[in-house]
Amino acid sequence: MPELNNIIHEYLKVVANMKEYVAEQLELGFLESTAPFGKMTMEELRAEAIACTRCELHKTRQNVVFGEGDENADLVFIGEAPGSEEDQQGRPFVGTAGQLLTKIIEAMKFTREEVYIANVLKCRPPNNRDPSPNEINHCKPFLTRQLGIIKPKVICALGAHAAHALINSNEGITRMRGRFYLYNGIKVMPTFHPAYLLRNESAKRPVWTDAQKIMAELGKL
Ligand code: URA
Repeated sequence: MPELNNIIHEYLKVVANMKEYVAEQLELGFLESTAPFGKMTMEELRAEAIACTRCELHKTRQNVVFGEGDENADLVFIGEAPGSEEDQQGRPFVGTAGQLLTKIIEAMKFTREEVYIANVLKCRPPNNRDPSPNEINHCKPFLTRQLGIIKPKVICALGAHAAHALINSNEGITRMRGRFYLYNGIKVMPTFHPAYLLRNESAKRPVWTDAQKIMAELGKL
């Protein structure tokens, strides 16, 4: 009965896809649920992240760098992963790259408190190495759920790792930056990472162009 087997196989595939879709919508907060993994507050999510041992990075971290800012922010900045200073303080973007990000935020007529700042990875990769695909897979649900709670109007993805975590593209950041993409209906602007700007003065102008597009979108221009 090969035909019946095919039908059963197709049916199971559809059910699996539906389950995955519903789980994702619940995580994003787009569906209400009384299930334990349904809507969570940011503080509940932070507590879960702080206790997280899903990947090896929990063994070497000083602190989980969950994210900070306004939970109702219109604008969210997403970086790659905490560095040494962030790991020590438990706060995102507080090192030299962070100081530059703060200047960019202020030039955009916001304060750090008015936006939300987080990273794809919540724990520091040793020696600031690139995040591994396994670490991203384990950690990304925290980011997805943060964004589901905040529901910002615009996300600024800082650097290729942040852009690739949100946008389905293999392109480098130089090609991706400068235009809006959609992540679950939210506009995403990829741009260069502030750490890159510290090494490449000439990248400041395109970042300012991208920042102005975000400002226009949010009525700040
Ligand atoms: N770089 C990042 O991507 N995130 C931080 O929090 C700090 C530096």
